[in-house]
Amino acid sequence: MSQTKKERWGTRLGLVLAVAGNAIGLGNFLRFPRLAAEYGGGSFLVPYFIALVLLGIPVMWIEWSMGRYGGIFGHHSTPGMFARMTKSRWGTIIGSLGVSLPLLFAIYYTYIESWTLAYATFSATGQYFTPDEESLKASLPPEVANVTYYGLLDSLKSEPAEGVRAIGPEKWTGSREDFDRLDLSRDGRLDEKELEKLITPLKSIHTMQFLRDYQGVTPAEDRVHFYSIFTAFVFWTITVAANCYILSRGIKGGIELLAKIAMPLLFVFGILLVVAVLSMGTPDPSIPTRNVWAGLDFVWKPRFESLLNPQVWLAAAGQIFFTLSIGTGSIQAYSCYLRKDEDTALTGLATVTTNEFAEVVLGATIAIPVAVASFGLVATQAIAASGSFDLGFVAMPVIFQQMPLGRVLGAMWFGLLFFAGITSSVGLCQPVMAFMQEAFGWTRQKSAMLCGAMLYVFGFPIVLLVGQGYLDEYDTWAGTVLLIVLALIETFIFAWIFGLKNMKEELTRGSEIRIPSVFFPIMRYVVPLFLVVILTSWLLTNLSSVLFLTGVPVENHSSIWLARGTILFLIGLFAYLTIISPTLRNAHCSNTLPQQEPDHDHDLD
Ligand code: PHE
Repeated sequence: MSQTKKERWGTRLGLVLAVAGNAIGLGNFLRFPRLAAEYGGGSFLVPYFIALVLLGIPVMWIEWSMGRYGGIFGHHSTPGMFARMTKSRWGTIIGSLGVSLPLLFAIYYTYIESWTLAYATFSATGQYFTPDEESLKASLPPEVANVTYYGLLDSLKSEPAEGVRAIGPEKWTGSREDFDRLDLSRDGRLDEKELEKLITPLKSIHTMQFLRDYQGVTPAEDRVHFYSIFTAFVFWTITVAANCYILSRGIKGGIELLAKIAMPLLFVFGILLVVAVLSMGTPDPSIPTRNVWAGLDFVWKPRFESLLNPQVWLAAAGQIFFTLSIGTGSIQAYSCYLRKDEDTALTGLATVTTNEFAEVVLGATIAIPVAVASFGLVATQAIAASGSFDLGFVAMPVIFQQMPLGRVLGAMWFGLLFFAGITSSVGLCQPVMAFMQEAFGWTRQKSAMLCGAMLYVFGFPIVLLVGQGYLDEYDTWAGTVLLIVLALIETFIFAWIFGLKNMKEELTRGSEIRIPSVFFPIMRYVVPLFLVVILTSWLLTNLSSVLFLTGVPVENHSSIWLARGTILFLIGLFAYLTIISPTLRNAHCSNTLPQQEPDHDHDLD
């Protein structure tokens, strides 16, 4: 085995920052606000918090303890850990999911991360800012139907706009309030004032086009901002290289150092943005209902009616997994560098708390209130429902254009996203790194190169086929379903196969707080049951439509099948690698001695 076993976290603070960096990611600032807006704010938060307590916290503790336990024997990725705990070769093979899954995740995550780097740059240079208001006005056809943000988006996508003359309140798809604001002239033309009211939605379209052009989704002949996908490739290459470089510097000199720099910056940016948002108040006094407080109220007010909707439960539990980085093998890849008697209970809880602060306080206070203040509640929900990234990459840039210091704030917002992203993507790659070192004795540098190469090779189709459902397919399987599967497997191993006595011993040894004993039955019964229910209801409601691509345009089918093929290939590949690994072959044998801290007094062998 290589030098990995000698690696350690430098300081306690460094460790906490690194794991918090792992958990706090794009999920906190893009995915969470979107879900909260889509599922109705407070009604999303109730199932969300229930899932946090019944799933998030217990699974986090399981993963911290499992990682530390594996580390005692020199295992830094789940194949070795599962082998140890199950004392079976099958453990090794099933554990390979804790390597392939984070890799699959990292493959698309780093691409989205690279957009944030690009947009931080574009904000600073003002590249997506509307070129000039006059030409924007001139480009607006006098007859525009359904002039709400989402109405415009729809009309852009589907049929050409009808004449304004044809619009009456009955035909209007937007809110009555928006219709009244239009104050259409009798002659059916839009006057100055009316044009002014249309400028904001048009800017949204401008930023929408900017994003689609950047991603290369717009057909080549319609592109305005980028003539090829080259720019996206450049930022993506830089992002992958940066990840590779940090990984090659190891736990203390790479991941921990990055967290010590990026996390404080992230919090400073986050707090400054919150202050900027709160000081927006009511941006347009003529529509007093659109204000920041209405946005906050929308996010925070508990609404209990959603408790009966299984869809909300699925979304909430899925978000808990995504945001806490649990169910991927990533937390174990960090906690395995703890010493045998170092605390896991308090540190695990600290990870959850820090992440939730960043998610529920910072994440919820930025994007949604800003969007509600600028576009209104209904439109904010529509934006959120129209795609995962529209709130962050389309709506936010519109708002920055209208704010004083917009370029600085824009650079801060995307800078924050980039820091959140990179501290998470290194966490996603770390299991792969550790596995290569552990299973094949590779050096850190060589493993980092290989990891970067895999991100790059398998990321190519993500970049090229982003508009054809390729990325979404990865997100469905790696970012949603498989997380739950892996969590179920590891809970079963830890709480059942490993044995109650061992489980309790691992959860309590060295801990600086006492885990309330009610969590033991929660881990054994509630967590697996909850997970099985989630998984079955997902399978029942979605499996056939997802599998048979119901409603998916035919032209996307081949790229989706290609994504599925690649996902299966990678899962198979890592399972195979665990089988041929010379060092993992005997990891499950009970007579293998601990490779470090031989004073370990636990009766495991
Ligand atoms: N938790 C990260 C986020 O919120 C994503 C992530 C998942 C990172 C799993 C590592 C492991 O964006």
